[in-house]
Amino acid sequence: EMPEKVTIREVGPRDGLQNEEEKIATEDKIDWINLLSQSGLDYIEFSSFVHPKWIPQLKDAREVAEGITRTPGITYAALVPNKKGLENAIDTDVDEVSVFMSASETHNKKNINKTIEETYPVLEEVVSEAKAAGKTVRGYVSTVFGCPYEGKIAPSHVFEVSTRLFQMGIDELSLGDTIGVANPKQVDEFLKQMEENVPFSKVAMHFHNTSGMALANVLISLERGITKFDAALGGLGGCPYADGASGNLATDDLVHMLEEMGIETGVNQEKLAEAATFIQSRISKELPSHQMQIRNRQ
Ligand code: HMG
Ligand code: MG
Repeated sequence: EMPEKVTIREVGPRDGLQNEEEKIATEDKIDWINLLSQSGLDYIEFSSFVHPKWIPQLKDAREVAEGITRTPGITYAALVPNKKGLENAIDTDVDEVSVFMSASETHNKKNINKTIEETYPVLEEVVSEAKAAGKTVRGYVSTVFGCPYEGKIAPSHVFEVSTRLFQMGIDELSLGDTIGVANPKQVDEFLKQMEENVPFSKVAMHFHNTSGMALANVLISLERGITKFDAALGGLGGCPYADGASGNLATDDLVHMLEEMGIETGVNQEKLAEAATFIQSRISKELPSHQMQIRNRQ
């Protein structure tokens, strides 16, 4: 049984751009986010308040936050790794913050310079202060289906990290296939087990299309009762601390599939294509999404 409606979390300006080596001008980011805001998407993760040395592309998070036109009804979210990031994010009056950690010890260490045990108290403080400041909080778990350093990750690790995040008070959990290795059977079995552990109404799946399986993984997730998905317009992006994490699930391909299936997304495909064409013109390569490949050849 398929849902009638699906919610999409646009993460392109953050997860999409963080891996782009070529510096994108702040003005271009702002213009792009403003175009995304006109597409019917109701959630945009616009940047990260992380250390600028770690992710130079997103060091203009404040300027972006202050430059964009905020459309009522859209949640503008930013990634924060710690208290300093939270304070900077709150200063710019974001609607929501996203904390993040990994189910894999090695990836966690490489990404945020802490062990998993050391990460919990940091995030606990961030979540409680964010809530006190009136923000909603999203919690990401990455390397859920595989890690570039440790290989397969046991679902029990993912349950444990997820449970800890819910205990801290997160409003939504995003489960990331950071390097795009999950296959539909693995996702199916994982979600069957996960169902008893976490409330699916608060779970989003975050697939990468590295091996071309992202939409197949969405389909199996829909069948299992998941109705929220992260995606990046045009299939931009990846994680700089996970080699091969190129290519988030493309928002335009996701919207296209869902709308063709009669599942409502609230997103206007023409407007989405305008936003994709714009950002494509600002990076010196073609966007990898199927929808943009079709468009580029017309
Ligand atoms: P650290 O070096 O351990 O930080 O980095 P520290 O706490 O020891 O502080 C060192 C210095 O950094 C200090 O400055 C701090 O003030 C400063 P100093 O006193 O030396 O002048 N600092 C900061 N500056 C700006 N903003 C901050 C901040 N925090 C400390 N927030 C840290 C630890 C977490 C900061 C670093 O490792 C970092 O920024 N990591 C971010 C990595 C990242 O963004 N990775 C990509 C996102 S995760 C992902 O892609 C997965 C996901 O997409 C899901 C999926 O795809 O599966 C979410
Ligand atoms: Mg990602």
